[in-house]
Amino acid sequence: MHLVVANEAQKAERDHLTYAAWGSPLTVEQFLQRELRLRAHAWSQDGMRTWLLCDDAGQVLTSCETFRTHSFLRDSECQSTPGDSFIIASVFTETALRGHGHATRLMDLVASELERTEPRAQAAVLYSDVGPRIYGRSGYREVPAWDWHLPVLGGPVLHKVDSLLEDKDVPAALARMRRPEVPFFMWPGAEQVDWHLERERIYAELLRRPRPRACGAVVGASTAMWAMMARHGELVVLMLDARSEEDAAALLEAARAQAHKAGLSKVVLWEEPDTMPWVARLPEASREARDGSLPMLRPLREGLPAASDVPFPRALWA
Ligand SMILES: CC(C)(COP(=O)(O)OP(=O)(O)OC[C@H]1O[C@@H](n2cnc3c(N)ncnc32)[C@H](O)[C@@H]1OP(=O)(O)O)[C@@H](O)C(=O)NCCC(=O)NCCS
Repeated sequence: MHLVVANEAQKAERDHLTYAAWGSPLTVEQFLQRELRLRAHAWSQDGMRTWLLCDDAGQVLTSCETFRTHSFLRDSECQSTPGDSFIIASVFTETALRGHGHATRLMDLVASELERTEPRAQAAVLYSDVGPRIYGRSGYREVPAWDWHLPVLGGPVLHKVDSLLEDKDVPAALARMRRPEVPFFMWPGAEQVDWHLERERIYAELLRRPRPRACGAVVGASTAMWAMMARHGELVVLMLDARSEEDAAALLEAARAQAHKAGLSKVVLWEEPDTMPWVARLPEASREARDGSLPMLRPLREGLPAASDVPFPRALWA
């Protein structure tokens, strides 16, 4: 068995198979378009790879993708070293080939390959839809994951924001955001955030539904960015940097109002420790155990803290 980086033809072949897992509600043709567009996006062009595990006859046994993101690791002198971390996505084994350890072997080989060939590598992360056990075998550790669900807001807004953000405002919005003061964190670039908006644009076009008019808001020094998950009828908060309880309330109200105008059913916010107490005090907020997308982290070098000490904003999902 050996690891192969897929070429364009091999990626297209995998798209036909992975439709079964991730295609709905798109048609096969629409899903193939989705994949091509996502791979053509600037963030994907800058470091996305599709990996294949092949047997000796060259048959593909299983596949996954990796995306590069920025990360920062503090050393013993409290100096922060910039590096790369890798988001693993779309792990897929055809039904007939499942249960033989292929996906586990792929996870092991991809991590070793990244350790060997990526001098700046700090961590590999993934978001498990199949629980922690399978990836735990390859050294990934899970982080308990909770979501906050907020109803959309059709009535008057009580807390005003200073302005709403459009796609073009993402780089400036990201630059305003405070980075976490923790030993290790990953941080998306503007292109990575825009990749979520590209997904939004793709689904809006293919499913013929309106996009929200804004992709975020600012109030005072606080900033939020969000994206529509058209498939689920939700607005997901990608990043939330709220400097006060009042600001958090204003930004989330703006998100709820935008979700209402776009015909969505709720706003979903991944729980993070800094803003959790404020969100918990919002009268309509409910805390739900996350269904899927369980963050898991595997160090690719020494010196990383425990996975539970690493922040995971939704913008880091792929
Ligand atoms: C998950 C998947 C990649 C596993 O591939 P595989 O080659 O069979 O993986 P392995 O043989 O290495 O490991 C199989 C393990 O995965 C577990 N698994 C598979 N699907 C699962 C699910 N939906 N929920 C929980 N565990 C699951 C199996 O129970 C098995 O566990 P065990 O060995 O501890 O009994 C494959 O089932 C698949 O492609 N599923 C559809 C796409 C998907 O959900 N991908 C994962 C996204 S995070």
